[in-house]
Amino acid sequence: MQLRRVKIFCLNLMFTGGNTVSRIKDIKLAPSGEMKIKWVERNMPVLRGIGEDFRRTKPFAGLRVALSVHLEAKTAYLCRVMEMGGAEMYVTGSNPLSTQDDVAAALAAGGMQVFARYGCDMEEYESCLCSVLEAAPNIIIDDGGDLVHLMHTKYTNLIPEVIGGCEETTTGIHRLKAMDRAGELRFPMVMVNEADCKHMFDNRYGTGQSVWDGIMRTTNLIVAGKYVVVSGYGWCGKGVSLRAKGLGAKVIVTETDPVRALEAVMDGYEVMPMREAAKIGDMFVTVTGCSGIITAEHFETMKDGAILTNAGHFDVEVDMAGLEKLAVEKYDARHNIQGYVLPNGKTLFTIAEGRLVNLAAGDGHPAEIMDMSFAIQALSAEYLAANRSSLKPGVIPVPRELDEAVARRKLSSMGVEIDSLSREQADYLGVED
Ligand code: NAI
Repeated sequence: MQLRRVKIFCLNLMFTGGNTVSRIKDIKLAPSGEMKIKWVERNMPVLRGIGEDFRRTKPFAGLRVALSVHLEAKTAYLCRVMEMGGAEMYVTGSNPLSTQDDVAAALAAGGMQVFARYGCDMEEYESCLCSVLEAAPNIIIDDGGDLVHLMHTKYTNLIPEVIGGCEETTTGIHRLKAMDRAGELRFPMVMVNEADCKHMFDNRYGTGQSVWDGIMRTTNLIVAGKYVVVSGYGWCGKGVSLRAKGLGAKVIVTETDPVRALEAVMDGYEVMPMREAAKIGDMFVTVTGCSGIITAEHFETMKDGAILTNAGHFDVEVDMAGLEKLAVEKYDARHNIQGYVLPNGKTLFTIAEGRLVNLAAGDGHPAEIMDMSFAIQALSAEYLAANRSSLKPGVIPVPRELDEAVARRKLSSMGVEIDSLSREQADYLGVED
């Protein structure tokens, strides 16, 4: 792609291009980001097809869209597809350690408004969220609920502009449901994560593969033969456990839900409380969406060299503050690996400071997986735009026909044909054929 002629405004942070005022690390990184976006575009056939449709139908003509999703190449391609549909995009990341500066630069170079920088502090992170909201968006695409939370606290004056939004992940949906129960959610929010084509594939196979990709590339250690402790046997935990088993690990699951715990037992894993698992594990992956899973009481009983990682949305699952407090020494053991020497002489290691390991120490889910998740995002946003006059505030499910449309497109892109019900079979089952 040809870079637009841009004026560097403030050396490392801000530049203007056309009407754009973006805050990114360095516009010169754009060619590398562009290469990454081209690679995922090639591997996201469903989203590509939706983009082609959007080019013709322009469902977002005249609409501003604020997006806060882990800013790497797949997300960038979603932004481009939304733009093909006529949206004016305002883009930020959803975690300071998952933004890829070259990808942010590529979007900004193409004229999009981007506010994101890898490794920024929490103050700058929040100011980036504010920047996309200050555009007075009509549609919000959120991942974890930060944009919606800010909209309901700091920018309530802009709520009348909002048609609705889409939430990407389990944690964000927990937050939205709590707001909805309290009668506080003031616009419709589509629960993208609850679509089958999202959580059954993204959370399970996407997290399953990318967590191990992140851990392996960062540590360069073997998984086979190790005790791996997975906390949470939900959609993500099932995938992380399955892939650990496939890599030859001895997998232990910790859970609080008796049904999920039983499922883990039947799937062939050892299940025990964290206080027991802590003593055995060589590698830990928390993926519960809850806080305080691994804390001081566990650190002290762990093996020397244990590696603690988190794949849940927020960095609250491993008690990082507690670990800092307990440690007598902290050092960089390798890029993105921190070593903590405890008073008992043992050293524990964390990856990416307890932030979600597949994004903060990797490239996130495979493109073919995000193809489906972001297809659901794009179609849900189109659904909001098309039904803006009839939708009520509150959480709303992804319409089943969108799920089925994405599954059909994905199967077709894979060259897989399926049967259809005959009239007799449909009558027998009592369903529409
Ligand atoms: P889920 O609701 O399907 O599963 C969470 C599981 O954790 C449940 O079975 C629950 O009983 C268990 N759990 C809760 N508290 C626990 C505790 N104190 N100890 C042990 N187990 C506990 O949720 P899902 O979809 O698996 O997501 C989990 C987290 O991962 C969320 O924060 C979600 O936002 C995040 N996520 C991360 C992704 C990534 O790329 N790293 C991708 C998708 C989701």
